[in-house]
Amino acid sequence: MNLELHGKTVLVAASSEGLGFATAQAALQEGSRVWIGSRDANKVTEALSRLRNNQSGEQKQNKEVQVDGYPLDVTRADSIATWVAEARSRYGEAIDALVVNSGGPPPGLFADFDDQAWQGAFELLLLSAVRLVRACLPGLAVRGGAALIVSSTSVTEPIEGLILSNALRSATVAMAKTLSRELAPRGIRINCLAPGRFATGRVERIDAAAAERMHCSPEEARRKAEAAIPLGRYGTTEEFGRTACFLISPAASYMTGQLVTIDGGMTRGTW
Ligand SMILES: NC(=O)c1ccc[n+]([C@@H]2O[C@H](COP(=O)([O-])OP(=O)(O)OC[C@H]3O[C@@H](n4cnc5c(N)ncnc54)[C@H](OP(=O)(O)O)[C@@H]3O)[C@@H](O)[C@H]2O)c1
Repeated sequence: MNLELHGKTVLVAASSEGLGFATAQAALQEGSRVWIGSRDANKVTEALSRLRNNQSGEQKQNKEVQVDGYPLDVTRADSIATWVAEARSRYGEAIDALVVNSGGPPPGLFADFDDQAWQGAFELLLLSAVRLVRACLPGLAVRGGAALIVSSTSVTEPIEGLILSNALRSATVAMAKTLSRELAPRGIRINCLAPGRFATGRVERIDAAAAERMHCSPEEARRKAEAAIPLGRYGTTEEFGRTACFLISPAASYMTGQLVTIDGGMTRGTW
């Protein structure tokens, strides 16, 4: 299938590693002009060289297929404004796709968090999505683009010990669903993609913490987590990137307001 992403401008937030990086990589492979960003400028530079090194010789020659980036902290309005303005000055007014992503909020129980922690999670997961979409709307309206919010299976099946993620990500999905109806007449789509467990640095850290609690090795903790997944393994970041690219692409032109789950069958609910 041709995703028709060739020459399209794709902005991916929080993309120096993990799921965001894999999405940027997949879009680049599809021939898009990709814009990345995350808080640490060195990590952005390293990610850019990895992305460029992975390009084929033919792609490197093609001026339409490019990748560049700029530091971005999705919790700061000024940083989002600068990141989007820099993308525009590099690639022009039109934005064909925006991928909203961030780091995850800290794990913990209700009793662990004060107002400041809740405020931080609100800014990280909900307000960042509001601000990123708002900043990109003029660009998305030029040719009728798509936004995709990276979510979690915690919105359909709350995960124990992740109360901040469970609560705020659900609010973000509700915002996206509502917004999808407002944006549809302008030809702009918005969807959410909910990963289960993918092999990223974040999940490695989660497995290491679980291993300490269970007095076993991180490998053993991972095997136990994988045993709860019907497909029997964590997803690869490439699998996530490909699905994300489908959802932002014209190939998904009739999909909007949807929460798509990608979890190897892990969640048990029918809906
Ligand atoms: N991996 C999974 O299986 C899984 C499952 C469910 C949900 N999720 C969620 O999906 C998102 C991505 O997960 P991941 O596993 O790819 O995480 P990761 O491996 O920790 O990577 C996170 C990326 O986001 C950047 N980042 C973190 N905070 C940021 C901020 N405030 N502003 C801009 N960039 C920021 C990081 O770079 P810097 O350090 O340079 O900022 C890094 O590039 C997270 O919200 C996570 O909770 C992941």
